Amino acid sequence: RIAYVNGRYVAHADAAVHIEDRGYQLGDGIYEVCEIAHGQVVDMTRHLDRLERSLRELSMRAPMSRKALSVVLREVINRNRVRDGMVYLQVTRGVAPRDHAFPSDSVQPALVVTAKRMDRAAGSRRADTGVKVITVPDNRWDRVDIKTTGLLPNVMAKQKAKEAGAYEAWFVDAKGEVTEGASTNAWIVTKDGMLVTRAAEHGILRGVTRTTVLDVAKQLGLKVEERGFSVEEAKAAREAFLTSATSLVTPIVAIDGTTVANGHPGSVALSLRQAFFDVAE
Ligand code: PDD
Repeated sequence: RIAYVNGRYVAHADAAVHIEDRGYQLGDGIYEVCEIAHGQVVDMTRHLDRLERSLRELSMRAPMSRKALSVVLREVINRNRVRDGMVYLQVTRGVAPRDHAFPSDSVQPALVVTAKRMDRAAGSRRADTGVKVITVPDNRWDRVDIKTTGLLPNVMAKQKAKEAGAYEAWFVDAKGEVTEGASTNAWIVTKDGMLVTRAAEHGILRGVTRTTVLDVAKQLGLKVEERGFSVEEAKAAREAFLTSATSLVTPIVAIDGTTVANGHPGSVALSLRQAFFDVAE
């Protein structure tokens, strides 16, 4: 495997950053994960738009132009011969002696890009059976709209899910409403067929998959509401599912041990998953 690290393509096994990289010491970095289908980055424009927004919100410089970045992505994907999988890119504020405040302008932001193949069959099997989620209090900061590498609450939540035999943990806010998953957006289909996901302006990351699924849902003529929903509403829903660049659309069949509907993946989730593949082709 080959990785890109600060201007060089190096063997993945030897790829390393400096111990005073601010991403490593302070979580002072941002990232993107994009799906690769048929050797192409899915929704590249939306991912690069979100990357630029994250940089802007944190007053971080771009490591290179958007055009140059897309060349590096292409190169890493090709060098690793990935047809189906994911590409990871991370920008940190660079290497400087440890100090919370920003380093001087001469410090270059650091860029790392990796790509890996993913087993489509495993994802399909998960979608066929559906996954379980648990809920945890949302104890994150109020800038979860920025895709930062500072992911400790997400790490703790996902570990708790794993220990409970679940695939994902849903964060729940002080009002008892689901915000999003540790690394996915959360959705339900209500008893009267309404597709519901939380508005992107309120305490969630604006998932690229979320945006694309909203587009697809509207094309399919589904009724959509962007609003919060409680854990109780989700447990009583006709369907629940999650979305992300790596999980795509994955049906949920249990929430905190309560079976959703008949315990089988819902038809809306499955048709959105299929429609999403068709868009990505
Ligand atoms: N996670 N919410 C959070 C907190 C996320 O970390 C992610 C993505 C999403 C879904 O966004 P998208 O559809 O753009 O992937 C929502 C990536 C996959 C990760 O951290 O690995």
